[in-house]
Amino acid sequence: MKTENPRPIYLKDYKVPNFLVEDIHLTFELEDHKTIVSSKITFHKNPESNEGNQLFLNGEHMELISVAIDGENLNTEGYEKSEKGLLIKETKDKFLLEITNQIDPANNKALEGLYKSGNIFCTQNEPEGFRRITYYLDRPDVMAKFTTKIIGDKKKYPIMLSNGNPIAKGELDNGKHWIEWEDPFKKPAYLYALVAGDLGLVKDTFTTMSGREIALEIYVDKGNEDKCDHAMESLKKSMKWDEQRYSLEYDLDIYMIVAVDSFNMGAMENKGLNIFNTSCVLAKQETATDNDFLSVEGVIGHEYFHNWTGNRVTCRDWFQLTLKEGLTVFRDQEFSSDMNSRAVKRIEDVGIVRDYQFQEDSGPTAHPIKPDQYIQMNNFYTLTVYDKGAEVIRMIQTFLGVDGFRKGMDKYFELFDGQAVTTEDFIHAMSVANNNFDFTQFKSWYSQAGTPQLTLDWKYSDGEYSLTVTQMTPSTPGQVEKLPLHMPIAIGLVNSKGEDLPLKLKDSSNQNFIERGVLEIRKEKETFVFTGINEEPTLSFNREFSAPIKVKAPYTNDQLLFLMANDNDNFNKYEAAQMYAKELLKKTVIDVQSNNELKVDQRFIEAYGSLLNDKNIDDYFRSLVLTLPTIKTIASEFEVYDFQSVIKAKDFVMTEIAKKLEDTLLENYNSREEKSFDVRPESIGRRSTRNKCLNLLVLTEKEEYFKLAYEQRANATNMTDEIAALNALVDYKNEYKDKAFSEFYKKWKNETLVMQKWLSTQALSHCDDTLDKVKELENDEVFNFEVPNILRSLVGVFGGHNLKQFHRADGKSYEYISERVLKVDKINPDIASRIAKSSFSDFKKLPQNLQKLMKVELDKIIATEKLSDNTYEIVSKILK
Ligand code: TRP
Ligand code: ZN
Repeated sequence: MKTENPRPIYLKDYKVPNFLVEDIHLTFELEDHKTIVSSKITFHKNPESNEGNQLFLNGEHMELISVAIDGENLNTEGYEKSEKGLLIKETKDKFLLEITNQIDPANNKALEGLYKSGNIFCTQNEPEGFRRITYYLDRPDVMAKFTTKIIGDKKKYPIMLSNGNPIAKGELDNGKHWIEWEDPFKKPAYLYALVAGDLGLVKDTFTTMSGREIALEIYVDKGNEDKCDHAMESLKKSMKWDEQRYSLEYDLDIYMIVAVDSFNMGAMENKGLNIFNTSCVLAKQETATDNDFLSVEGVIGHEYFHNWTGNRVTCRDWFQLTLKEGLTVFRDQEFSSDMNSRAVKRIEDVGIVRDYQFQEDSGPTAHPIKPDQYIQMNNFYTLTVYDKGAEVIRMIQTFLGVDGFRKGMDKYFELFDGQAVTTEDFIHAMSVANNNFDFTQFKSWYSQAGTPQLTLDWKYSDGEYSLTVTQMTPSTPGQVEKLPLHMPIAIGLVNSKGEDLPLKLKDSSNQNFIERGVLEIRKEKETFVFTGINEEPTLSFNREFSAPIKVKAPYTNDQLLFLMANDNDNFNKYEAAQMYAKELLKKTVIDVQSNNELKVDQRFIEAYGSLLNDKNIDDYFRSLVLTLPTIKTIASEFEVYDFQSVIKAKDFVMTEIAKKLEDTLLENYNSREEKSFDVRPESIGRRSTRNKCLNLLVLTEKEEYFKLAYEQRANATNMTDEIAALNALVDYKNEYKDKAFSEFYKKWKNETLVMQKWLSTQALSHCDDTLDKVKELENDEVFNFEVPNILRSLVGVFGGHNLKQFHRADGKSYEYISERVLKVDKINPDIASRIAKSSFSDFKKLPQNLQKLMKVELDKIIATEKLSDNTYEIVSKILK
């Protein structure tokens, strides 16, 4: 048992720092186990603080060598050292602090601070990693100018990088060399970066709108240079897009990206020196799927856009995380929409919100996009802060219009460039740039957790269409009472010819926004009456998913089929199909649970078939409409999550589709033969639709289709088709499957990113021996427990995504995951708590027998000695 439970940090306790930093000069003497860090920092008293002159510096996992103030060594009476940092007992109003300390990067498996990924030294300092490098005021509202001198072995580390520009370099006689970097922009410590290694380099340039030439450099492990083209193109596109859409120009002369294999998340926006997970940089046709290509483009954009939204204007404290993340996700989504297909991008982004963020919002770890407390900040890099945060920004844009939003952004930079600010400041800028738009009620989106549920009721008579909207947000842990939210709902009233009727509201006090097709919702219950409607229309509600809400509406199947065919909003066309499928699947689940004979409505299968052959929709959109709701999404329509029944129901429906539409599916498959490769949306859509057909065909369990999948992989010229074939085969037991997997392994054994796909495909298998297989795969030489990507692709994917085999009736998978969580918790607490969260968050919603089995494991975790704060915070919430 933990002797003392960790205590949360509260937003309401925020105090300005009592000291500020003018500049900091760092020197690193790089050694695997004994890196010496020396810093020279000029501190001065913060005039806004009324605290005393004691200075507390954060610092963890390091050895202190010496401390000096204004050139005089401080003896041990002058300071107090603890596990959390260093307290300097007496200081002046302005002084120079010199500290020397020692760290052990090669043993740093938490991957925070300075660590080694393979042979590369790299850093990860957000949110609180810098305190593992040296003693410092490690908080985002302390911004300083950094210079760095790196000393390292010339052979092992020919390349040594830090933020900003190189200003001097030289040779030393012991086989070492040194280089000095200077970053002219003030920044918080979380944006600090250092890299050293023997790296391959891919170079390009970008000329900005004012004519400055920027050097673009991507550093990767030697041998991977041929996988950087897509990242480089994406970077140039991002730079151009930010100039065109927001007039934002890059501010340094050099932009560097380094790709490393061991990284806790996707990528990090360190000023001028982004560090990326290799999975978010490297992409070529043979080794990366279409989704990989898209995600590289999105993440490159995301980190680039942070240069303004995050770095130039940063966060006052970590409670404000959504200030930079929600806004930057919104920006990267818009970028990807402009580069590819807007409707498709929206469907995919909404899918993430609905399938994952809504789960988080209705579960034990629910929190507002701006949390008011945390134990471990790393636990709050969540879908809520990022993706719901982006939805909140999108609602602001919907209210203000694209031009009004742009004015607000200009105002934001005008007021806050170079500062560390709050979400209130952002809202303030948006408001003053738009005639003091009233965001008072809207601000609850920042402080209130949970997904609002809107219930609709409509009536038509005598030329009037009246729509009653009721909103309710269910209670979340620690937040029982909920206020009604202010939201923009894009709508259409569609007549029988498929045309949108002009929208005229009877009540003149409701006129705002309606001419743009947007309904402004404020109250718990309100009725809107539309006049001049001469036939009963079909309502298209929440077009483009203008608000992140759930909707309950009394649609008939006929109305849904009508919207599927006629809605002028592509997102809602898709939505109508999803609603139809969801209702049908729910009924099937109930039939499974009651042991009824299973059957599928013929009309549904016909609709599915006509979507397959519809010449008016493009293939990318087609492949999404043809994807049935996820198992989680269907399960969460019920009080108790009965995954096994949902899986049976969904399998049954898909198999019926496959049997009834076999010929059409095969025709559609054959007509989409792969020609030359590119990643335009048309081509991605073609592959995606073709692979959807393959997946369904295999459900008939005819040997010819297993063979077809086997041959597709054997002849494939791209990774999308290879992996799709493995996916199609993985739930079965036959020679085609075995051959496909072992040939794939032989071909790709030395490409770790590809092996990660090979692992996760197997971790997702519905076969009953999957748990044993997963354990066996841990012994394969491509597996490595210490590399987060690899651990996630096997253990994380099994616990978080294989609902069938994770929720085994004997509880053996729960036991396996809890053992692995405890094992990784000792080396990388961030990864441990993420695996615990994605595996165990459904605890309270499971059937009793499973809850009992899972509880044993959760109790075991929480009772573990020296459990990390990360895992403690998550598991204690799940158990509450
Ligand atoms: N700021 C990063 C981003 O969203 C995310 C991030 C936070 C991160 N902490 C991290 C990335 C740790 C990698 C490791 O772009
Ligand atoms: Zn980000």
